[in-house]
Amino acid sequence: MSGAEPRARQPARRVSGPARAALVALALTAPAAVQAAEAPEVAQACLSCHGEALAEGAPPIAGHSSNYIQLQLVFFRSGRRKNEIMQGVAEGLSDNDIRALGKYFASLPVPDVKPPADTQADLTRAGEAAAARHRCAACHGDAYLGIQAAPRVARLPEAYLAKALTDYRANTRPSSGGAAMTEVAGSLSDDDIKALAHYLAVLP
Ligand code: HEC
Ligand code: HEC
Repeated sequence: MSGAEPRARQPARRVSGPARAALVALALTAPAAVQAAEAPEVAQACLSCHGEALAEGAPPIAGHSSNYIQLQLVFFRSGRRKNEIMQGVAEGLSDNDIRALGKYFASLPVPDVKPPADTQADLTRAGEAAAARHRCAACHGDAYLGIQAAPRVARLPEAYLAKALTDYRANTRPSSGGAAMTEVAGSLSDDDIKALAHYLAVLP
């Protein structure tokens, strides 16, 4: 058709409700002309903590599976996964928002994080031994990059990893995959958690 209007980019904030959700879905499924998928408007609020610079306590979320991200947001929203900040964030998200956020962050590349220099080789060895004992790699993969429901855990921030394991052990965080992590973490000692968090954080 000649004289067709250029496909104007509607600012998403002028469109509301189902139309907006449809636009977001379109943006996500259209073949990307540029490398990164366009962020749904609702993702802007996440970047201050989960962007290139991480806020204290916040893990990177780019490159996790869409299912994993959506599940965690649903857990936060229902209060089954406890964290004041994220429960507050998730409270305001609709199911459509959660789907769009899952797709968007899953479409981003896994951050290319250089592991911090390992100054505690003994702790690393203890972590490696604990990981072998508890067969962590059987679910998370030999390089800990994640398989299916089990997410990537390699090179996440050490304090975040320790907190995650402590939360599973205390049952303040639910686990998908047939309660896989609740079961595994139940038998971890404080020393195991410290060593495992260190080992995974400094994986080359
Ligand atoms: C003010 C900072 C802040 C903002 C804004 C924020 N988050 Fe978070 N987020 C956190 C923190 C802190 C955690 C770790 C919670 C914990 O320890 O359980 C977290 C955890 C998560 C997790 C779990 C990650 C994992 O590996 O299990 C997901 C998914 C997530 N946030 C998604 C989002 C999304 C999507 C948004 C925007 C809608 C958002 N967050 C906005 C701070 C923030
Ligand atoms: C039987 C399979 C299985 C085993 C064994 C297992 N995991 Fe997991 N792990 C999972 C699944 C599934 C999840 C996602 C659970 C959820 O929905 O929160 C997970 C989540 C995690 C998380 C949370 C990551 C994040 O971003 O918040 C950490 C950390 C973790 N596992 C570490 C370990 C360690 C360390 C071991 C060994 C001690 C281990 N896992 C053994 C299946 C497993």
